[in-house]
Amino acid sequence: MRKHSHAIAGCTVITALLLSACAPSVKPIDEAAAVERGQALAQASFQALSGRLKQAMAEGGPAHAVAYCNAAALSLVDSLSQVHGARIKRTSLKLRAPHDAPDPAEREQLEAYARSWSEGGEPLKPKAVAHGVDSVAFYAPIFIQAPLCLTCHGVAGETLDSTAHAAIRTNYPDDEATGYALGDLRGLWSIRWKRPD
Ligand code: HEC
Repeated sequence: MRKHSHAIAGCTVITALLLSACAPSVKPIDEAAAVERGQALAQASFQALSGRLKQAMAEGGPAHAVAYCNAAALSLVDSLSQVHGARIKRTSLKLRAPHDAPDPAEREQLEAYARSWSEGGEPLKPKAVAHGVDSVAFYAPIFIQAPLCLTCHGVAGETLDSTAHAAIRTNYPDDEATGYALGDLRGLWSIRWKRPD
């Protein structure tokens, strides 16, 4: 009996050694540097998107701007991704564009940020974490920061522009991204890049 349990214990040790040898070892990331890079990319992307958005609004009003975003937002973000060697994306728990749907890691972060936001307290901060063995994932909250956002994300019959609303219904039949107030958490920037090492 004693001999038997000894054999089992030995086997457990070997299994543990084998498992630890196989488990990928993820080196910690330099979080401060990653947050700095992520913020620079989010900032550049926001500026590019909002510049185009304002131009489209000035040229043809809110409905035209919705159609413009429908045609151009994704390819603009994709080309920024190529230029910067990172995968740049916006995502939300209340989606407008189906292509912005969160993957499981993003959903987890969205839920964590939404929880902190509803609890109040500390302001929400950007963060960077290791993603898989070879990538960095950066997340930063996106707020309904300006009255402009309400034109297309506000409350129907109040702040939401009625012509924009009609264009949204046409272009995004499953839209969930209205009903927001100024200052609300709208979603996240989710930016990923390969680690240099
Ligand atoms: C002219 C209308 C319009 C305005 C103004 C506008 N948006 Fe949007 N927003 C859209 C459209 C259309 C999409 C979907 C774009 C696409 O198809 O990729 C979108 C998508 C988003 C997304 C991506 C997540 C999702 O649900 O697809 C975020 C985040 C977002 N908007 C935040 C904002 C913020 C913050 C502002 C103010 C700075 C703003 N929007 C102003 C029309 C607008």
